[in-house]
Amino acid sequence: MKIRGGIPLKGTIKTQGAKNAALPVMAVCLLLRGETLTLDNVPDLYDINTMKELLETLGIDVEVTGSTMDFHAPEELKWEAPDNLVRKMRASSLVLGPLLANCGKVSLPLPGGCSIGSRPIDLHLKGLKQMGAEIEIQNGVVHASVKGKLRGRRIYLDFPSVGATENLMMAASLAQGETIIENIAREPEIDNLAAVLRCVGVPVELEGTGGVRIQGIEKAHSGHERVIPDRIEACTYILAAVMTNGHVKVEDLVPSHIDAILAKLEESGAKFAVHQNTVEIFPSKKKLHPVSVKTMPYPGFPTDSQPQMAAALSIARGVSTIEESVFQARFLYAQELNRMGADIQISRDVAIIRGVEKLQGASVKASDLRAGAALIIAGLAAEGETTVDDMVHVWRGYEAIDKKLRSIGADVELVS
Ligand code: UD1
Repeated sequence: MKIRGGIPLKGTIKTQGAKNAALPVMAVCLLLRGETLTLDNVPDLYDINTMKELLETLGIDVEVTGSTMDFHAPEELKWEAPDNLVRKMRASSLVLGPLLANCGKVSLPLPGGCSIGSRPIDLHLKGLKQMGAEIEIQNGVVHASVKGKLRGRRIYLDFPSVGATENLMMAASLAQGETIIENIAREPEIDNLAAVLRCVGVPVELEGTGGVRIQGIEKAHSGHERVIPDRIEACTYILAAVMTNGHVKVEDLVPSHIDAILAKLEESGAKFAVHQNTVEIFPSKKKLHPVSVKTMPYPGFPTDSQPQMAAALSIARGVSTIEESVFQARFLYAQELNRMGADIQISRDVAIIRGVEKLQGASVKASDLRAGAALIIAGLAAEGETTVDDMVHVWRGYEAIDKKLRSIGADVELVS
């Protein structure tokens, strides 16, 4: 993407459906037999397409009408996930729980690491074992099976992993009896999954104390639900507006989902107003004050917005810090931002960001999805021309980002 920076963004932008909510709720169709799951507000993204292909390989018939997807489940599913699709996307591991619960067996190549850290699935496997699954890992492939049905029980997660919570909630849906999972992730995407499980007939109760109670059912029925708005995409555009002194309304979001980010923006002196489903950013000639940020599981500051926040703080007045506590290696974007004139030093899991007067356009590379987003918004604020290479990462999570940015006045184009 070629970006000619320095233009204050102006206008209104609509938030897409959430990638991280859509991926797990799509996997809910693997709990069905001869029934249909319908989902509205599914974003058009590479990762969604990868999940669609994976579900099709497993026997699901997928029908797409605009942003609505119908997933028709056959009576008999296949239970072997192909290596090429699982390797493309870590979230492929979300098929493990529902397939095992429905078919009694599953084989899934280990998703492996990625550029933001090692990302094991040990917590997913531990929970499934506690529910009676036998699990063997041979030549990098997880083979899981269960005699009869998975058995509901009490499970305590050592860490509130988003993926492990989702996998175990889906597995518990067809287990025998009641499952209680403690210390679960409380991201809004988990509420969306609970709603989708309820719509196919699974009694799910989220408890205020950080647990979930699920009654396993005999057979799931057809259902229809909506994917929630993408809080990370929304924050990317909010930060782009802040960085360019723009006047932008970001619509169709749930402001309470982004409290942690809005709190930091308020602390840094950004000018904005929160309306019912909209956040409006106002232009401000003043530079941001520096702030300290620590990423944490929800409702803490999301690790997925950390790189974009770093981009915004790179032109604040003074020294900010960002501590990354969720992933091991999420600062690969720093050296690219430094190529644009930023002053970011990494010391273990902390980024020390000394605000500079201005960023300058440069040729940079996206190492992962959110790093790519950070470089794009940095490019929008920078003087001169920025080229962001390896956009393939960005297409995994941002629907039509070039068109959306142009619609609020940015000068961006895709070049091959
Ligand atoms: C999801 C999101 C991702 C986001 C992350 C944290 C999706 C598709 N992806 O990823 O965008 O950055 O939540 O908000 O929803 N861990 C283990 N063992 C496990 C599972 C996780 O050690 O079995 C560790 C991971 O290595 C990582 C941390 O726990 O350090 C958080 O991972 P987790 O919450 O599971 O994230 P994902 O579900 O992979």
